[in-house]
Amino acid sequence: MQRPRVLSGVQPTGALHLGNWLGAIRNWVDLQNSHETYVCVVDLHAITVPHDPARLAEETLSTAALYLACGMDPERCCIFVQSQVSAHSELCWLLNCITPLNWLERMIQFKEKASKQGDNVSVGLLDYPVLMAADILLYDADLVPVGEDQKQHLELARDIAQQRINARFGSEENPVLKVPAPLITKEGARVMSLCDGRSKMSKSDPNDASRITLLDPPELITKKIKRAKTDPQMGLQFDNPERPEADNLLGIYSILSGRGREAAALECADMGWGTFKPLLADATVSALEPIQHRYAQLMDNRDELAKVLREGRDRAEDTAQTTLKRVRQALGFLATN
Ligand code: AMP
Ligand code: TRP
Repeated sequence: MQRPRVLSGVQPTGALHLGNWLGAIRNWVDLQNSHETYVCVVDLHAITVPHDPARLAEETLSTAALYLACGMDPERCCIFVQSQVSAHSELCWLLNCITPLNWLERMIQFKEKASKQGDNVSVGLLDYPVLMAADILLYDADLVPVGEDQKQHLELARDIAQQRINARFGSEENPVLKVPAPLITKEGARVMSLCDGRSKMSKSDPNDASRITLLDPPELITKKIKRAKTDPQMGLQFDNPERPEADNLLGIYSILSGRGREAAALECADMGWGTFKPLLADATVSALEPIQHRYAQLMDNRDELAKVLREGRDRAEDTAQTTLKRVRQALGFLATN
């Protein structure tokens, strides 16, 4: 029997941070053992806001290397670059023509990003969730592991598959597309900024001190944690709405130390910030060290990395073309072979 499918991706825009790792990539690593897993570097999404062409290729490669360094194994999953499988753009167009404009205009992430772009909002930024739906639907994904911020995009992908494609162009017994489900794990689903426990850790925050990237050297990690925002209360705790920083940093500690929520909460219940912060810094440095080590090795051997991506592309292409053909047929396009 075929294993259930998983698809996910991260944009190659700037260094990946703890949020990307704990919210998304960490879950992929487990899933590749039980699921047929596809992970891509979503470089077409990266150009929906102004980008630097001199850095796109390098950041794409570096993001792929980080997937591997975090534990994705090309023997057990398919790793590829989105723009190298043209079916993504093609399905995106087909879905564009059946997706109502107002579904896109109400997307929270579009509104947030558009408000930062002034007069320079591209059609691509509005269309971002349709391309994401194409990414997912092309692989008949059962599950899409993402952070909390992607929930609305996942709902859109489901609505497109169910209401706009299957209901109109398929039948109950013969659906055209698989309707995917999000996988958002409670732990790590929303890692917050080090400077403000109420806003999300993000690649686009202009303040570098707000995030820890997977490639930050140990001294920088320690410095960022030392300066992280705190509150005047003693003792770390979860779920106190008055103390978002305590909740966030204790959450990060509970995962990175491997203790889990209960044991971490118990250990730190009476701890002052001055004792807690070095503990968190040590746990973070130790958790990232093996990733950084492996990353350096991978980036030193670019031929091997390129080979992994070529093989990934070929496998992804096969699966994607099968689905694309089904959709073209359902929509009534002429086939001449
Ligand atoms: P992006 O950096 O926007 O390409 O996001 C890639 C993946 O990381 C998506 O699954 C996001 O949901 C996840 N992610 C991004 N930021 C965070 C965060 N602060 N906490 C948890 N997950 C996140
Ligand atoms: N929009 C996602 C993000 O920024 C990235 C993404 C693009 C994605 N295509 C995807 C995630 C398909 C999961 C599945 O986080």
